[in-house]
Amino acid sequence: MFPVAGLGTRFLPATKAIPKEMLAIVDRPLIQYAVDEAREAGIEQMIFVTGRGKTAIVEHFDIAYELESTMSERGRDMRVLDATRATPGDIITVRQQVPLGLGHAIWCARAIVGVEPFAILLPDELMIGRKNGSGCMKQMVEAYGEVGGNLVSVLEVPHEEVSSYGVIAPGELRGKLTEVRGLVEKPAADKAPSNKIVSGRYILQPEVMRVLEAQGKGAGGEVQLTDAMAKMIGTQPFHAVTFDGRRFDCGSKTGFVEATLALALERQDIGAEVRAMAERLLRG
Ligand code: UTP
Repeated sequence: MFPVAGLGTRFLPATKAIPKEMLAIVDRPLIQYAVDEAREAGIEQMIFVTGRGKTAIVEHFDIAYELESTMSERGRDMRVLDATRATPGDIITVRQQVPLGLGHAIWCARAIVGVEPFAILLPDELMIGRKNGSGCMKQMVEAYGEVGGNLVSVLEVPHEEVSSYGVIAPGELRGKLTEVRGLVEKPAADKAPSNKIVSGRYILQPEVMRVLEAQGKGAGGEVQLTDAMAKMIGTQPFHAVTFDGRRFDCGSKTGFVEATLALALERQDIGAEVRAMAERLLRG
């Protein structure tokens, strides 16, 4: 499930008419990175929780008839569009009419989720696995095969940075897996139970829908997923998977620019040129 109904206010005016998830890191929109990550993990059905002004996201995975016929008449390489092709029926959309929060967006898809566990990917958190390593969701699916239950992906950050994030209270530690005993949203650095921050990828049991159903608004007047997950801890197995890779917070301007630079520098086709350009710019 890809909740993409947020307003993206931190990116205005860019996101007034264009969904935040369609902003591109080099030449791939954020939603494409997230869908590719899900596919790599073996996920075939994609649920988009959309809202008004978000139709470009669904169009992106449709056939662009005029573009494709013109490109093919001109003998252009069509492989550039490969990742945008969806198997018919594999993309399902549901609308969140009012952006009442991430928890509410997820609850809007309850009829599609039904009685099975499901994965959530927040596309504005760009998760890049190590070179030749697995992506974040694949690492989580592997961990799910071991422990089942509910999983969140976490990253370790310097202690002084935890106060902007959801943080886990850790229990038993086993390799990349940490038992989750509690979740705290944006704790003060000296009160944080760990330096492991929750980072935009989840595998949850469908019972979370019932918890969300009964839940009122939390911080910021929004229905918070963190609150629902916190209620499930202790009633169901809950673990965190430490992601082996890098995360870019592309919902923020600096994170977006960092991701653009980092991925551009690593590209075979433009990396060397970008490096030379960056060095020129830094020299002034
Ligand atoms: P954010 O907290 O980044 O909010 O949401 P936002 O609205 O997208 O952006 P800002 O803070 O105004 O700049 C995290 C994820 O949850 C989705 C967003 O689309 C994003 O993927 N979301 C958030 C919803 O789908 N619905 C909501 O009501 C809120």
